[in-house]
Amino acid sequence: MSKFVIVGGNKLSGEVRVGGAKNSVLPIMAATVLNGKLNVLHDIPKLSDVIIMTEILESIGCTVEREGTTLSIDSSGLNNYQIPENLVREMRSSIIFLGAILARCGKVVISYPGGCEIGPRPIDLHLRSLREMGAKIVEKHGFLFCEAKELKGTEIQLDFPSVGATENIILAAVFAKGTTTIRNAAREPEIIDLENYINAMGGKVSGAGSATIYIEGVEELNSVEHQIIPDRIVAGTYLAAAAITKGNIFLNNVIPEHIQSILYKLKECGCHIVSKNNTIRLEAPEKLIAVDSIKTLPYPGFPTDMQSQMMALMTVSDGISVFIETIFENRFKHAEELTRMGASIKVDGRVAIVKGVKKLTGATVNAKDLRGGAALILAALAAEGKTIVEHGKHIERGYDHLEEVLKSLGANIKYLK
Ligand code: EPZ
Repeated sequence: MSKFVIVGGNKLSGEVRVGGAKNSVLPIMAATVLNGKLNVLHDIPKLSDVIIMTEILESIGCTVEREGTTLSIDSSGLNNYQIPENLVREMRSSIIFLGAILARCGKVVISYPGGCEIGPRPIDLHLRSLREMGAKIVEKHGFLFCEAKELKGTEIQLDFPSVGATENIILAAVFAKGTTTIRNAAREPEIIDLENYINAMGGKVSGAGSATIYIEGVEELNSVEHQIIPDRIVAGTYLAAAAITKGNIFLNNVIPEHIQSILYKLKECGCHIVSKNNTIRLEAPEKLIAVDSIKTLPYPGFPTDMQSQMMALMTVSDGISVFIETIFENRFKHAEELTRMGASIKVDGRVAIVKGVKKLTGATVNAKDLRGGAALILAALAAEGKTIVEHGKHIERGYDHLEEVLKSLGANIKYLK
């Protein structure tokens, strides 16, 4: 089993470049099936989720070549609309292929993605929206059999600003007859990146980043080259690593606008932050100040994907912090693992109360999900003694060469695959 072995106590300092955003790469890789031509994507991180998306693209007849951080995807050879079940079950966000393959082929068969470590992850908003656009979707034996002779532009009101549902509707609407309007759409920066990508292909999408998005159906799309936006959650995680180790870090290739809510909380806990163009410098205080409350919300609120990393910071702050997780049902699994390291955390449903302690001590802990695992690594960097973070595979899903990056900043860390 893969594990990180960390000896805490070193202050992290130095410069790091943030790579392309996982949650932008995944929907854009799905979007490459739309044009039936060559797509060249730059700044693609080396992540296990990207490997799974690559395997899915190859399984339906596309060719994918990686050269460094550039991925070339030719979807002209697409000859299959059935997504392999084992790959869907390995990565639930492959549900994003639903809209794209339906738009390209008029048919798609995909297994129900099911839940994951952080909650049941329903897709009712995805299915209801695609049905409103004219798709016939039959759910049988754990599979979704979808067909649409012609998808029609329509007005869609989302009950919740779901990121995945917003992306699936955009992808399904690109060739639809007429204009599709999405109200109460997700406003995450990754949606804007998807809009820019589709428009660079010749699509007609507008409004991404706001609560209302318009997609005008077009007949054809062309080849495209695109640079993926930086990963705001990886940027936040690196900043948190410097914050928890009393360090000093300089990030380049970040978009400060995308992480304002994270920067605000880091300043609230005593970090000195200077953002300039696409760089951010953070200098940590000797002792982190307890932030009264952290409530996760859809963008531009505080991101749920940074909740566990912020909790790691608060375990060694000078007071009490209240966490409210409004997005996912079961996203506090890292709390019990942090407690094994000496943290004082009380969890009750979607609320967790963290009382800062003087110091954490190294222990053997379990990464239960991607961001919870990242939080355990942050805690280990500050803990006294050695920590073993097991099930490192979860962390490989969203962090590219994390061991090398943290080592370059002065961490005493080894990753045993
Ligand atoms: C995306 O997941 C991200 N994943 C998640 O990042 C992120 O946490 C999440 O958005 C919220 O920002 C990718 O982009 C690949 P949602 P997604 O649909 O699209 C409920 C990470 O660590 N919901 O906005 O699945 C759902 O149960 C990952 O990088 C429905 O009820 O998120 C959840 O409670 C984790 N019905 C809430 O909405 C639906 O049809 C948010 O889900 C769809 C969603």
